[in-house]
Amino acid sequence: SPLHPFLVALPKCEHHMHLEGSLSPELLFALAKKNNISLPSPFPTVSRSGPGTAEEQDEIDPAFASPATLRARYAAFTSLDDFLHYYYIGMRVLLTADDFEELAYAYLARASLEGNVRHAEVFFDPQAHVSRGVTVAVIVEGWERAVERVEGEFGGGKGRKITALLVPCLLRHLEVEDSRGLFAGLLAEGYFHGEDGGEEGPKLAGVGLCSTEMDRPPGLWKEIFEMAREAGVRRTAHAGEEGPAGYVSAALDELWVERIDHGVRAAEDGELMGRLAREGVMLTVCPVSNVRLKGVERLEDVPIREFLDKGVRFSLNSDDPAYFGAYLQEVYCAVEEAFGLSVGEWAMIARNAVEGSWCGEERKREIL
Ligand code: HPA
Ligand code: ZN
Repeated sequence: SPLHPFLVALPKCEHHMHLEGSLSPELLFALAKKNNISLPSPFPTVSRSGPGTAEEQDEIDPAFASPATLRARYAAFTSLDDFLHYYYIGMRVLLTADDFEELAYAYLARASLEGNVRHAEVFFDPQAHVSRGVTVAVIVEGWERAVERVEGEFGGGKGRKITALLVPCLLRHLEVEDSRGLFAGLLAEGYFHGEDGGEEGPKLAGVGLCSTEMDRPPGLWKEIFEMAREAGVRRTAHAGEEGPAGYVSAALDELWVERIDHGVRAAEDGELMGRLAREGVMLTVCPVSNVRLKGVERLEDVPIREFLDKGVRFSLNSDDPAYFGAYLQEVYCAVEEAFGLSVGEWAMIARNAVEGSWCGEERKREIL
């Protein structure tokens, strides 16, 4: 596209990228080896005493033969849950603060150097780590070391400074009580920023909700999000990815979220589209993710045109770039290829992404 140099130079903000979703197959295998973590066996193993138990049989998956076979399997995801199966296995290799530092540094450096990303708000799944004995303190330690390094290396004087915030997501496939315990603990330990977007002090910028969507309506997390609201903790939730438009309304009405992650199925409900436009709710749309998880057949089927025409604000995001094969720059290019947007439309998309960020107003002015 003739717009390619313009799209590369555009200062970007990313709001919907799961840290664990930036774990490449190569790093996954390297960390499994370093940390002595067993992955599903690629081959059936028959012990001397006979075939393994049902559980052991479940852990046979030819995709784990090599990074290349794993990547090939990622290209064939059939649904959100099919992806999540691999995503939760993959993150088992993350154990130490060094592991999280390496993961976060690789993402942030690439975002800055390849995509001119100026501000990134990065999700992570505390419950999936705490259940393995890896504490939030360990994750935050690794994260902060990575952020300090990128802010040092890509900051000074080059006008391409990158800032980054960390946002824990509660997991919908687990019992609500599990979310409550985790969230109440983080709140009590003073982990959260207030809504003023200050960058010093506490470490987490807000709270999100992700994982399996079908049959897990947002309202189940109402009391927990009420705790967040009362404590002045910013809120967002995945909704309308596989689930119906009604889940987007429910996230707004029952969780008081400021943003909606994905939200693409909102386009099926004209009234809801009007509300999103009126209230200025930003959707953090992940078009390549929607294609790879079969929410839509082709990128052209993501309702980008509808959002633009009806004045619904959105940012473009990579979601789980190592699993879906596209980092933010590639997502921007794929959207341009599919929709052929104008320079004015791209400038507005980039500006809305800055305005919808959870950094302070001063930082927003710097990026604009
Ligand atoms: N949807 C829900 N949960 C997730 C996703 C997603 O796209 N990525 C990582 N966890
Ligand atoms: Zn997501």
